Amino acid sequence: MNLKDCHNVEDFRKLAKKKLPSPIFHYIDGGSDDEVTLKRNTDSFSKCDLIPNVLTGASNVDLSTTVLGQKIDFPLFLAATAMHRLYHHHGERATARAAEKMGTMFGISTMATTSMEEIGNLTDGPKLFQLYIHKDKGLTDNLIERSRKAGFNSMCLTVDAAVAGNRERDRRTGFTTPPRLTLSSLLSFALHPNWTFNHFFSGKFMLANIIHMTEKGTSIDKSVIDYINEQFDPAMNWKDAEYCVKKWNGPFALKGVMSVEDAKKAIDIGCTAVMISNHGGRQLDGSRAPFDQLAEIVDAVGDKIEVILDGGVRRGTHVLKALALGAKACSLGKAYLFALGAAGQQGVEALLQKMKAEINRDMILMGCKSVKDLNRSKVAFRKN
Ligand code: LAC
Repeated sequence: MNLKDCHNVEDFRKLAKKKLPSPIFHYIDGGSDDEVTLKRNTDSFSKCDLIPNVLTGASNVDLSTTVLGQKIDFPLFLAATAMHRLYHHHGERATARAAEKMGTMFGISTMATTSMEEIGNLTDGPKLFQLYIHKDKGLTDNLIERSRKAGFNSMCLTVDAAVAGNRERDRRTGFTTPPRLTLSSLLSFALHPNWTFNHFFSGKFMLANIIHMTEKGTSIDKSVIDYINEQFDPAMNWKDAEYCVKKWNGPFALKGVMSVEDAKKAIDIGCTAVMISNHGGRQLDGSRAPFDQLAEIVDAVGDKIEVILDGGVRRGTHVLKALALGAKACSLGKAYLFALGAAGQQGVEALLQKMKAEINRDMILMGCKSVKDLNRSKVAFRKN
């Protein structure tokens, strides 16, 4: 199996599984506890049916939209995810280049393995910096100031990771950053010589945005679960979030909002957008799927704040359903990391091309000329 055999997200997942040592693959692929929410994130779209209109003459579709102040060519972007150099030795640079080439936005994580300054120099395309509030308050200020200087256009604060979810796959595989060489991981690395060679000979792995503050996760191997629990501030609250919004003073998304109540608070503290998300099913298992919360949140706040749907998107039709319910755009997490693990920049580009083609084809089949034509009349929910 190789890149030309990848026709959909599941194919990219299979190729990533083949290419990556198992602790790395399972870190991307896994969720928390029983992974109920992880599965539900995608399943939730199937209760909603699309209702097409025929003979509308829609052949040239305008897929573009504006999200967080940035115009993107189609309503799907790459959410910030951690540590891309684990999945491909070109790391975040590959992701950034692929997004720029495909005319969409990408995010860089606080826990990125390429510095925001390097990414800022690499591309003028729309980019978002994702913030985690660490216990070290000075670090938050430092990240906000640096990302502005580095040319990031928007900021996103992730608020659903006050403590780490119970990721049992990572415990079983012994996943750490940097990857630790143990007897069992050694076998997995030996079985993936290309990954192992590229990873260990392509420069030092580091949490490049925070290396000046902690050696953990860069020079001292650490489980991600322990990293989050030691470093992130479990007491973060609305005042802290408001502080970040004010300090950034530009387009700002709160990521991990799941309730109407919190979406209203996001408006109160001055956010531009909420990303409805449960962190890809990696945090609170049993949490509702973002898509299941979408209509209610849009009805309550959709005219005052941009609503972005993050979680479980695997098909163009999923994006259409979310937009029909009132989402401004959708974002991908795991899906593009599979593509990155499968084939680096080429993989992410291929995935984005396929998703864009799907969205375009689905729009024509729906009889929609632009994303503005997607509204509630285009969807219906089944009871079973
Ligand atoms: C994770 C964090 C680091 O989900 O975003 O692993």
